Amino acid sequence: MFDLNKILRENIRKLIPYSSARDEYKDSQGILLDANENSMGSPIDDITENVNRYPDPQQTELKKKISTIKGVPVESIFIGNGSDEAIDILFRAFCDPGKDKVIVCPPTYGMYEVSAAINDVSVIKINLTTETFQLETEKIISAFDPNVKLIFLCCPNNPTGNGVKAADIKLLLEKFSGIVVVDEAYINFASYKSLLAELPNYPNLVILQTLSKAWGMAGLRIGMAFASSQIINVFNKIKPPYNINAISQQLAGEALENIELVNSFIKEIVSEREKLSASLKNFPFIKKVYPSEANFLLVKMDNPKRLYDFLISKQIIVRDRSKAPLCEGCLRITVGTKEENLRLIQTLNNYEKQ
Ligand SMILES: Cc1ncc(COP(=O)(O)O)c(C=O)c1O
Repeated sequence: MFDLNKILRENIRKLIPYSSARDEYKDSQGILLDANENSMGSPIDDITENVNRYPDPQQTELKKKISTIKGVPVESIFIGNGSDEAIDILFRAFCDPGKDKVIVCPPTYGMYEVSAAINDVSVIKINLTTETFQLETEKIISAFDPNVKLIFLCCPNNPTGNGVKAADIKLLLEKFSGIVVVDEAYINFASYKSLLAELPNYPNLVILQTLSKAWGMAGLRIGMAFASSQIINVFNKIKPPYNINAISQQLAGEALENIELVNSFIKEIVSEREKLSASLKNFPFIKKVYPSEANFLLVKMDNPKRLYDFLISKQIIVRDRSKAPLCEGCLRITVGTKEENLRLIQTLNNYEKQ
């Protein structure tokens, strides 16, 4: 049922991509007079070498390491300047501006809608179920039409923190002739498995992950999209030639060697999340702490603005999500270090005494 050529934008199908100097000649031996770089060097040669040269446009070394860790072939991996770049490329690949549509399931990550607006693509919103925040699969399916090209699902979902049922995602993958995007930015904190192993079974599945969360490298801007090699080829045609800078490629590659440390971060964050959740539930002004599979908690109360302002006055910054659909009264609190979480709880004790 899924036909990539059918859902690709005509201009992208016909696109002859830019061929960069480093695409045409990869060997760094020899005299490089092909890319109009500065052969003298750079002012930061004493800190880091080779930044006078353009980086590898295909991020080959980094992809090999990601491939080993994730068990996904290199041809099925795209690396973006954050997963936000992959989200934007999805719109540019599949959605004709002013004509096509996408489905999102609020409350969810805000960039899907912003990216849609930037690309002049309309958004069909089908809210998650109240309180349990699961997918309304029947409503989603009845919204399908030939101009709906993408469905964005976030799992674990931001800002609610829960996972959506894998069976529901699979049902949508089977029924939809466009692309189902599953954003797994927070998957490393979850008690259930990624859908990566399902990639060979669903030609219309795109999975997004990132090094910004569990891997602790938000500043490097490394996001990943996993999909069939045909879809990844499309992404590569559209991306700017050198979208991942040399320093990020190098440092991310080094960081991926240190999986034990990252696993210990994850363990500690999950343990802190459960402790924080239990402590927050003790405050009478907190009506609900939603269960979380991520590194944050959604917390419901009567007067979120008042608590938000109080916390700001104590230099503790959380996110006010009370205007998001189904999140009335809710703040989203990221799990911090043990000390930060303790300070949050102590501050909340003082709020109570006010
Ligand atoms: C669900 C979700 N997806 C993607 C992102 C963006 O990730 P990146 O830093 O890789 O652009 C975020 C950031 O908060 C997020 O919450």
